[in-house]
Amino acid sequence: MDMYQRPRRNRKSAAIRGMVEETNLSVSHLIYPLFVAENPDEKSEIASMPGIFRWGTEKVLSEIEECVELGIQNFVLFPVVPEKYKTKRGEYSADEKNFYLKVATEIKKRFPQISLMSDVALDPYSTDGHDGIVENGIILNDETLPVLANMSLAQAQAGFDIIGPSDMMDGRIAIIRETLDDNDYDQTSIMAYSAKYASAFYGPFRDALDSTPKSGDKKTYQMNPANKKEALLEAMLDIEEGADFLMVKPALAYLDVIHSLKENFVLPITAYNVSGEYAMVKAAANNGWLNYDATMQETLLSMRRAGANAILTYHAKDFAQLHKK
Ligand code: PBG
Repeated sequence: MDMYQRPRRNRKSAAIRGMVEETNLSVSHLIYPLFVAENPDEKSEIASMPGIFRWGTEKVLSEIEECVELGIQNFVLFPVVPEKYKTKRGEYSADEKNFYLKVATEIKKRFPQISLMSDVALDPYSTDGHDGIVENGIILNDETLPVLANMSLAQAQAGFDIIGPSDMMDGRIAIIRETLDDNDYDQTSIMAYSAKYASAFYGPFRDALDSTPKSGDKKTYQMNPANKKEALLEAMLDIEEGADFLMVKPALAYLDVIHSLKENFVLPITAYNVSGEYAMVKAAANNGWLNYDATMQETLLSMRRAGANAILTYHAKDFAQLHKK
């Protein structure tokens, strides 16, 4: 055979494969989500997310310590809000007695070096289970904005390093940035959930938080999975309004969107490898149908290859354990 190009030559040994590797993935790219519950000693596993727990406010501290020892440096907290605190307008989200805010302060006191990100949206706090205020079945945009701004300010005051608006209301980045700046929190970052799709992959997360919408769906604010151009518009607005990072969510079924944002914008991109994506891999692995370690790493690597700088993933601890030196 007359062949001048034989691509296999560049694959012939681990040394050469290492030399030509185009994409890398390490624990420093990962953000680990933790669900926090009010009862200090709670540790309850989420049925649809094997290996992921709701941690009480005391228990979460030792969990973070363990993760930090494994090299994880970035965390995002989600609150499991008891039904008794939920209201139409989610006032508990900015209440100074809020256990979520208090535990964030405690975490930053114990682990000042880590980055701690919040979640901004009404759904964990709302009796309607929607990300905005609901009136007569309509999700009100402009009425929701000040609630999101107050929630963000309370989170900045509690010590969160990064505010994470996941609500998809129009104009929220601008009002949050302005509110933070007016109160001297100009060093608090914003990671905008820029392209967040109305996805079936959030099911296990809603089980974890008991935050499934009481009626209707989220299609009037989360994006249509058929659209890609619209993600560019959302990203453009978030940048203009003052975002520091752009996020694409979910990740695996939206690698083209990650790639497109990477090509078109200069801000760092985060891929949110969501609960349903985690559940699929775990379920198949627990049945012996897929090799967990290999599948997990291949999926995370695909997000980096598509252009993600950071990856928000429930696999972070497993990945860190696997690579512990
Ligand atoms: C809600 C929120 C959701 C997730 C993160 N923040 C669910 C939703 O929009 O219904 C889902 C994350 C996951 O599935 O892992 N503001």
